[in-house]
Amino acid sequence: MKYFNKESIIHIGMEEAIITKKKGPQLNRNLSGLTVSPTLAINQKSKELEQAGHKVFRFGFGQSPFPIPDFLVEELKTFAAEKQYLPVEGLLELRKAIAEYYTNFNKLPTSPTQILIGPGSKELIFSIQDALEAELILPSPSWVSYFPQARLIGRETQFIETTFESKWLIKPTDLKSYLSTSDPNKTKLLLLNYPNNPTGIIADPENLRQIAEVCEEYDVIILSDEIYDRLTFDGNFVSISTFAANRTIITGGLSKWAGAGGWRLGFVRIPDSLQELESAVIKINSETFSCVSSPIQYAAVQAFAKTDTMNQEISKYNRILGGLATWVSNELNFAGVRVLTGKGAFYLFLDFEKFRKPLETMGIITGKSLMEYLLENYQVALLPGSAFGMSDSSLTARLAYVNFDGAKAIREISGSENFDSKFVQLKFPDVFGGIQKIKEAVQNIVN
Ligand SMILES: Cc1ncc(COP(=O)(O)O)c(C=O)c1O
Repeated sequence: MKYFNKESIIHIGMEEAIITKKKGPQLNRNLSGLTVSPTLAINQKSKELEQAGHKVFRFGFGQSPFPIPDFLVEELKTFAAEKQYLPVEGLLELRKAIAEYYTNFNKLPTSPTQILIGPGSKELIFSIQDALEAELILPSPSWVSYFPQARLIGRETQFIETTFESKWLIKPTDLKSYLSTSDPNKTKLLLLNYPNNPTGIIADPENLRQIAEVCEEYDVIILSDEIYDRLTFDGNFVSISTFAANRTIITGGLSKWAGAGGWRLGFVRIPDSLQELESAVIKINSETFSCVSSPIQYAAVQAFAKTDTMNQEISKYNRILGGLATWVSNELNFAGVRVLTGKGAFYLFLDFEKFRKPLETMGIITGKSLMEYLLENYQVALLPGSAFGMSDSSLTARLAYVNFDGAKAIREISGSENFDSKFVQLKFPDVFGGIQKIKEAVQNIVN
């Protein structure tokens, strides 16, 4: 290896890459090309605009607007003095409560030994990717962090394109045609998420059944990210594990339906057929985070055990989110921005393709430049589809309609109200204002 003052050449396999060596330590080469999470970047830019005195309509950051239910906060107070390290697998009482919840409510017989606890499901998804020497298969669009995680540990990712017409779901035939040409000796991990971030769509059971069939045929492991499983507006949720229990790993946690993202409490359910993988994940977890904070684990037990109380809270969230999803989707579709009505979570995936020509004349040819234009000129913060694995030229964007005070909303709204424009303007002024801005922007783009 040669060294220079300003440049050094490092060997990556057979290739030589020239890296400009600035001051400071040499970093993990897998980091190259990765940027700070785009969600955080848009948040930062929004803050800057606000500091300069602008009102910004923040549709970029996807965090539950609802407070942690009081009974869980009380639990946390009760256990604040818990100070010991807990087993790396997690507090047994919590693993039991989650297993019982799965057995009784998700109709998936589960034993506590199949459940592992971690600091958020994100970290557990990372441990699984780390433990498997697998190629990652993702639909585009997909949540922002799956691909960078694979990249960090040097795994390859294959995106399977989806379309508005396929409801942003992978078509089983597309998955099959990719798998039929790929190396059968490589382990494959298909990662699905529903209700979906960034689309708000819930995969329908028939789609899941067919995908499961293809995975069975080609021996693909499925990771089903079910972090939004209880945020379905019609109350129905079907997991792909119903069709492929032995090859499906499920992740979930408190971040979305309990509004407790900052508690960092996630879990993974690994079927007995993948026991070796579970042992490997335990090893990784033991050498990295050790265990989730003890008070949080003790408090979390009741989020699963007090099902009725928790579900009462969640049904309020779903009525509010469902009302907003429908109102926003209708407004935008009417203005010419194609969007599928959200069925769960708190996102919508906007398609500005209809405006490509006039946008081109304005010099806007990528999703990112369109988002910058909307932020700078209309103070609307959205995330471009490219952050979710869409091509740079895709004029798509994720809108998170959570820029409202969730605590106030659940105090004042029963959810049976008619979510018309007058009501949304009164109760959700920032959601209303931001949608008006997008409508104004597209009107100006065509004129
Ligand atoms: C689709 C999806 N999966 C996983 C996560 C990670 O959740 P946590 O690590 O808080 O459990 C998020 C959070 O935004 C998400 O949107």
